[in-house]
Amino acid sequence: MLSSAYSKREVNASQGYLGNDYVRGLTKQPQERRDGEFVFLLSKAKECGGPVLDLATGGGRIPTILAEAGFECVGFDASFPMLEFAKHAVQKLPVRVRKKISFVQGDMCDFDFFERFPLIINTFQSFWYNFHRAATENPEYKMALKNYNSENRTEQVSKRVMCNQAEGCIYSVMRSLRSGGNFIIDSPYRFGQIEHTWWKNMAEKYHFSITISDYFFREIGTGFDPYPCVLIGKKF
Ligand SMILES: C[S@@+](CC[C@H](N)C(=O)[O-])C[C@H]1O[C@@H](n2cnc3c(N)ncnc32)[C@H](O)[C@@H]1O
Repeated sequence: MLSSAYSKREVNASQGYLGNDYVRGLTKQPQERRDGEFVFLLSKAKECGGPVLDLATGGGRIPTILAEAGFECVGFDASFPMLEFAKHAVQKLPVRVRKKISFVQGDMCDFDFFERFPLIINTFQSFWYNFHRAATENPEYKMALKNYNSENRTEQVSKRVMCNQAEGCIYSVMRSLRSGGNFIIDSPYRFGQIEHTWWKNMAEKYHFSITISDYFFREIGTGFDPYPCVLIGKKF
């Protein structure tokens, strides 16, 4: 099964926001099926075909629905405890389903596969972890915080560092996609750190088209429902 990936960047894969406490918190979220999201993702998988790469896969929610529908799926995540949780969850599935799922550990800001995927997805606002890590772990950002003489300068460094990490993710996605392949990022403008002009610049630089779509959610009352807006990128 697919597992030939590399991730150049070291990830602190068992601590902080990738550690056990975080995983415990996150996996308390119901692994319920969010109808609109799943219908949307399954229709894209039918359109593009598999195998599907699920970036920042978490507890295996998305690989499970895709594999049940017959698609091979690689769940990719930086967190060792999270992947352990996901592997354990998948063990409970029927063999025909679980053999379609594999997991790979790595950093979504810098990865590559020998395989080229027709569809890469990044759900549940996970794109924003690129920003979170920039803010908490990047040495340049930390230095700027320590030495700042005006708020403005810190703002500028933080924005640049965050955008570099997000761009690393887009670059990695583009080199891992087949020509004509699609990627999906939900909540593309969340928290206002990235605007549409940033996405347009990325699209020009890395040669993809952008479509913005909505998907509809059944209210499940957890407060964790994904933001109902997705960006679909199509590689030229
Ligand atoms: C909200 S959860 C993901 C949920 C999953 N996509 C879903 O829809 O159920 C965010 C995940 O991002 C992972 N993550 C955070 N930073 C990452 C990085 N730099 N590379 C890969 N995964 C990362 C975390 O370990 C966590 O599992």
